[in-house]
Amino acid sequence: MMTKRPAPFLLVAIAVVAIISAVAKAAALAGGEWLPLQDPKAKHVKDMAEFAVSVHNDEYLNDPLDLYRVDGGEYQKLSDGSTNYRLRVVTVGDESSLHPSGIQNWTAILHELPSGEVQLVSFEH
Ligand SMILES: *[C@@H]1O[C@H](CO)[C@@H](O)[C@H](O)[C@H]1NC(C)=O
Repeated sequence: MMTKRPAPFLLVAIAVVAIISAVAKAAALAGGEWLPLQDPKAKHVKDMAEFAVSVHNDEYLNDPLDLYRVDGGEYQKLSDGSTNYRLRVVTVGDESSLHPSGIQNWTAILHELPSGEVQLVSFEH
């Protein structure tokens, strides 16, 4: 007797293809070497550093920081057209901060989508 149920092996095959393509995509996205930023003083780089500092300030209201400068950084092109940035960000604390006038070094990781939207991945010492 024939039934209309799909053969179980077909479902397994579909699941395996889905897993392989997810792994392949992650591997492709992870690829790409980090290259030094040609112009760490570019406005676009400064804007991203300002953004990273503003996210910190929103999260740590008692530790407002000001961007002092971007000391340099690297970028990495991903296969989906997005870009990762790793910036060495130097901040100073303002009067009300936990670190008034203190200079701090940070590493900001940002992810820029092809649309230009920028997401802060991490902002750490
Ligand atoms: C920040 O980094 C610079 C250069 O790497 C270093 O000379 C300086 O001592 C660091 N400052 C702090 C407060 O860690």
